[in-house]
Amino acid sequence: MNMNRGIVIGSALIAMVGLMSSSGMSLASDQMAARDILQQNCVQCHRLEGRPGSRFNLKAPDLIWAGSKYRRPWLIDWLTGKEAPLYAKGYRWDLSEAPSKHPVVSASEANAIADYFAAHSKDPRVKVGAYDLSKVTKFEASFGGMAFKAHACLGCHTINEDGKIIGGPQSTALQASGQRYDQDWLFRFGLNPQDFVPHSGEFLADATEPQLRAVIGYLMTQGVDDFKYYEPWTSPEFGVASVGRGKVIYKEYCSQCHGATGKGDGPAASGLNPKPAIHANIPFEKLPMEYLYNVINHGGPAIGKSPNMPYWNLTIGQQGVADVIAYLKATFKGLPAGAAAVSAAATRTMPTKAAATATSSSGGRSDVCVQPRKTVKAPDSFLVMTNPLAASAEVLQAGKTLFQKSAKPAACAMCHGEKGDGKGMMGAALVPPPRNFTCNAMMKDIPDGQLFWIIKKGSPGTGMMSFSGLSDEKVWQLIHYIRSLGR
Ligand code: HEC
Ligand code: HEC
Ligand code: HEC
Ligand code: HEC
Repeated sequence: MNMNRGIVIGSALIAMVGLMSSSGMSLASDQMAARDILQQNCVQCHRLEGRPGSRFNLKAPDLIWAGSKYRRPWLIDWLTGKEAPLYAKGYRWDLSEAPSKHPVVSASEANAIADYFAAHSKDPRVKVGAYDLSKVTKFEASFGGMAFKAHACLGCHTINEDGKIIGGPQSTALQASGQRYDQDWLFRFGLNPQDFVPHSGEFLADATEPQLRAVIGYLMTQGVDDFKYYEPWTSPEFGVASVGRGKVIYKEYCSQCHGATGKGDGPAASGLNPKPAIHANIPFEKLPMEYLYNVINHGGPAIGKSPNMPYWNLTIGQQGVADVIAYLKATFKGLPAGAAAVSAAATRTMPTKAAATATSSSGGRSDVCVQPRKTVKAPDSFLVMTNPLAASAEVLQAGKTLFQKSAKPAACAMCHGEKGDGKGMMGAALVPPPRNFTCNAMMKDIPDGQLFWIIKKGSPGTGMMSFSGLSDEKVWQLIHYIRSLGR
């Protein structure tokens, strides 16, 4: 028996616990004991049955659907006092402003209570299997995180972002959602919160079912460090992908913008800015599958790019996406090394003066130093900013990891190159080309605040996507790293 029963409330309970532990009882009588514990120690605050009601008429959250709502390990931890308060300002913030200290029971009592809930407090409205947790992709979860903010959820609930707790602590804390909730309960709750908590300050969001599912995917990753994301490109459709079918899709759907031979010159291209990517210049074999899948399945904005690149999931389905990717990989291998920058310069459409500068400073070679910059000048309030971090070894290392590997939607090196010389594998496909950070002659004249602004906002009409999801701190780490690449 658990020794810290000193903190258990009520001496009657302690006495009963002692009794239970000494007499190896059967399951049925355990459940009866659990009912007694609930009757004696819980119902003065919680309701176990009845109709959903206003928080302002209750003392504590309803447990009417407790058998469907919680993950068992969380419930045990909660009841044995191992969890932080859920309501930072108190469940009844109208009566007190402090979180309440919850009564604690022993581990065996907690288990008996959990068994009791599982047997007697299932919610028939909750359809088991309604939400498939094994199909949540990284993209869906991060989209769900954006939807969470866009729908004001952050206004009343806290979450964990980059190790910080943010949000309005009015209602329940959601930073451990993935440990706490059953996903099917969350889904049913989300379909209509008023079926559970009417007149409690709750909010009905104008969200579609896919958005709700994305938000739940996001919540279920909160508090779960090793969440196993689904990778659609490992699905059976990709196993049987066909280059031949992909070729037909390319002709029917992609060539209208990207051109019949992938030169970015389809009939729609003349009216588009940014221009459709020049597939012929991209070595598709080398691109990360996640990136390729996201831009084709979910569209340009999924990777911080133009919404004129459509999301194809509905039109061609999972099999079509798999097939067209197989076709891209089999057909387009990129340019031979060295031809890259020359080709990019040749296809570039830019003001004559800038073009002249570029040509003269490149001297026809592939390593252009001072580049024509298409980026817009940042507002004055940004231009005066200076890097608040010291360029320590840790900061440079953090910046390097982001640049080379981890930045989302894409690692900077993919375009700017591992050395920062603008010759990443995607570089040749982009007009204008990515910035060459090794060129001190150019970089010395670009203020920190300008770099900061472009990284956050992107450079619309160019390949430079927006990295609005990066925290200020991470952007400053990147800027130190970029500056360290200069020659
Ligand atoms: C003195 C009143 C009181 C008693 C007694 C009490 N609780 Fe609670 N309980 C609360 C309050 C208040 C909360 C909200 C938690 C917070 O503010 O952090 C809560 C939260 C909970 C939750 C989480 C609810 C949610 O929001 O999902 C569970 C589960 C729970 N209690 C179970 C029990 C059980 C089982 C017992 C009996 C062993 C019990 N409680 C006894 C007041 C009480
Ligand atoms: C205006 C404040 C407000 C906003 C905005 C809001 N909520 Fe809530 N939410 C509440 C209140 C109040 C409850 C009822 C629980 C309680 O009594 O605190 C609740 C309950 C919940 C619960 C169930 C909590 C539990 O354990 O019983 C979830 C999950 C939830 N909200 C998610 C969301 C999501 C997702 C959004 C955005 C679409 C959102 N909320 C927006 C106030 C809000
Ligand atoms: C309506 C025009 C249009 C159609 C149709 C179209 N695309 Fe695109 N695509 C674009 C534009 C514009 C971009 C460049 C976006 C940017 O740079 O912001 C792009 C970019 C891309 C990229 C990303 C390259 C990069 O910069 O990372 C890929 C891959 C791609 N398209 C594949 C496809 C495939 C496959 C199809 C057919 C299923 C297709 N596109 C159909 C307009 C289109
Ligand atoms: C998909 C390709 C691509 C990726 C990925 C990319 N960039 Fe860029 N970047 C570009 C292009 C193209 C330009 C040139 C834009 C222009 O001239 O308007 C550019 C320009 C820039 C500039 C120049 C700003 C200026 O005003 O001169 C900075 C700074 C920059 N990128 C930083 C980054 C960082 C940091 C990352 C990673 C977090 C990154 N880029 C990822 C393509 C990319």
